[in-house]
Amino acid sequence: MGQTVVLKTVGKVSLLEIDNPPVNAISRAVVEGLDAALREYETSGTLGLVICATGRTFVAGGDIADFESPDFSASAFNDILLRIENGDRPVVAAVHGTVLGGGLELAMACHHRISTQDCRFGMPEIKLGLIPGSHGTQRLPRLVGLRQAAEMMMRGSMVGAVDALDFGLVDDLVSPEKLRDAAIDAFTKLAADPIRRTSAQSISDDGADALAGLEKLAAKRSSEAAFAALSGALIAARDLPFEQGIDMEAQLFDRLVTSAQSKAQRYLFFAERGAARVPGVDAVSVRKIETVGVLGVGTMGAGIAVAALLAGYLVTISEADDELLQAGVGRINATLDGLVKKGRLTEGQHQKCRTMLHKGVGPAALSDVDIVIEAVFEDMDLKRRVAAELGKYCKPGAIIATNTSTLDVNEIARASGRPEDVVGTHFFSPAHIMKLLEVVRGNATATEVLAATLKFARRIEKTVVVSGVCYGFIGNRMAEVYMRENEAMQLEGATPAEIDAVAQDPDLWGMAMGPNRMLDMAGVDVGARTVIEWMASGDGPTDPAYRILCRRMFEAGLHGQKTGKGYYLYEGRSASPNPAVHALATQLAKDFNFTRSAPPSRQEIFERLLFPLINEAAHILDEKIAARASDIDVVWTSGYGFPKWRGGPLWMADDIGLGKIVERLEFYDARADNNWNISPLLRKLAASGDRLSSVG
Ligand SMILES: NC(=O)c1ccc[n+]([C@@H]2O[C@H](COP(=O)([O-])OP(=O)(O)OC[C@H]3O[C@@H](n4cnc5c(N)ncnc54)[C@H](O)[C@@H]3O)[C@@H](O)[C@H]2O)c1
Repeated sequence: MGQTVVLKTVGKVSLLEIDNPPVNAISRAVVEGLDAALREYETSGTLGLVICATGRTFVAGGDIADFESPDFSASAFNDILLRIENGDRPVVAAVHGTVLGGGLELAMACHHRISTQDCRFGMPEIKLGLIPGSHGTQRLPRLVGLRQAAEMMMRGSMVGAVDALDFGLVDDLVSPEKLRDAAIDAFTKLAADPIRRTSAQSISDDGADALAGLEKLAAKRSSEAAFAALSGALIAARDLPFEQGIDMEAQLFDRLVTSAQSKAQRYLFFAERGAARVPGVDAVSVRKIETVGVLGVGTMGAGIAVAALLAGYLVTISEADDELLQAGVGRINATLDGLVKKGRLTEGQHQKCRTMLHKGVGPAALSDVDIVIEAVFEDMDLKRRVAAELGKYCKPGAIIATNTSTLDVNEIARASGRPEDVVGTHFFSPAHIMKLLEVVRGNATATEVLAATLKFARRIEKTVVVSGVCYGFIGNRMAEVYMRENEAMQLEGATPAEIDAVAQDPDLWGMAMGPNRMLDMAGVDVGARTVIEWMASGDGPTDPAYRILCRRMFEAGLHGQKTGKGYYLYEGRSASPNPAVHALATQLAKDFNFTRSAPPSRQEIFERLLFPLINEAAHILDEKIAARASDIDVVWTSGYGFPKWRGGPLWMADDIGLGKIVERLEFYDARADNNWNISPLLRKLAASGDRLSSVG
């Protein structure tokens, strides 16, 4: 235990080193180590103390697992921060890497902060439904002002060292090799000046409008923590003495840590990390991926190529002919240009991406790369043909990945002639932005192929979930039942806007977009084509009314945002309901004999969208398509705009109560013409009282 914090004397200065790999998180052992080291320092006669950390980063936060402990308390660490700040000799924080949460709170309790030029700072607690709980809400605005503190706390994003210097968060920037010497040298000057305690500083922008407009940000996130930060902690920092401010912070933190929102977000935090760990798959793969090929550079292929370029891979793209290739290059360049315009990429990085991009025509151009991701049209005959060509041209050991959204990966794998090399990589659109990647493990996929693909996914910064083979994999298979009910309810008289409003209502649910807005964004044509292909394959639904609205909208050219008309009418960035869709639904209801005395109520809309989603997820778990319930929650929160603060569909199901869900499913099943196919697993768990989100 003593090893996590070490106190040394360097010349006339004491140096406290935190050594708790991998990220020097504040754990109980670190708090105890800090306490012991401070006691030793307090009896020393040195000029002051430098606090720093070993390894790749300064303290990058608290140990989140500690929050789950019933006797968790931040008070021991908080007392240490007060001791540091109230000491009679200067304390200098020498920071590098990512200084997050408790790490930043520790640095702010020091009297002077020196940082490396590449260091980054952040308060990510909001992502766990929390506010900083170790005086951060009170010290941060005193250093950077109310407005900047609110931005950092409510967004949870990081700021770079140059900005941090500009805001007053740090006092000096140095190169990494000079960090410790610079901190020790600082005492020459600090010894002559009065000690500068953050808690004693006044807030620079305490005017009434410093926090104006931020309520919108809080409301958008529907986050209790954002409201607590804004209307509780920051107001306290502005209006109350420090001691009362930290009491207020402690009260708010204690309330949030036991809130449903924070529990859901902490569950997801562990779910996302857990999803990338697949039993029996060694993370250290033997197959190296250094070069990436993309076949078919349309919407998805271009995005995938950009994601790989941004991660530093050499990328070769290939198309069916030269003209299509040039169009693909144009799409990639336009995406990179867009990133430069938004400030997410420097001109230099853009140029570097261009030099790392190679091009060719046909599969032969990809004979030398380590992984090929095919993103050609969603057509089984074409996919089979392309797989056979790749099987022939790709070098031995190369991985062949398919970006199909619904087709049978096993069939594509067989067509390649080397099924052990084939894996599914189901990206979401736009592929360089959306975090989710479903990696589809075929029956024959070699373990080392899966391991290498997971490693590749991490390098391109995706949140990865492994799925087995089935129609639509985890995400789109569930989306199918959601869309089925969405469209059925429109034939029963609900409008697209009414349905979307229910899905988006944070008091009921809080989806980022309702199903109709989502279809318009993804392309009604894309959705309809998939349904048409599925029905034509003989494996899909046989009811001629099945998703008839979407199929008819496709035929009528109502393809959503791309054509300016879909469920909504688009003008610039504004959308208004498209009356033609409701009229079409009314006509189809007549044609297909849908009779309802009254359109579905808001509660019915809610239940008919959400409960089939949960039911389908239970089937997916039962069939072992997903290894864990939490993987399914990761898919929906990372790929479909399901609110993170609800934890995902299965966590939300447990909150609602499985018994109630089964009862309502039975009600709709009895009333409907179609079979709702209620999951035996769901029934079993409802009877036993076990949690659905804990399965796996
Ligand atoms: N669009 C989405 O939202 C989305 C999301 C996830 C997955 N997908 C899947 O990604 C794949 C591609 O979808 P998309 O939306 O990018 O389609 P797209 O129509 O935009 O692009 C397909 C590209 O493949 C090229 N192509 C066709 N045949 C080829 C061949 N023989 N050799 C080389 N190139 C060829 C076409 O020229 C075109 O540029 C499909 O399997 C689709 O299901 C799409």
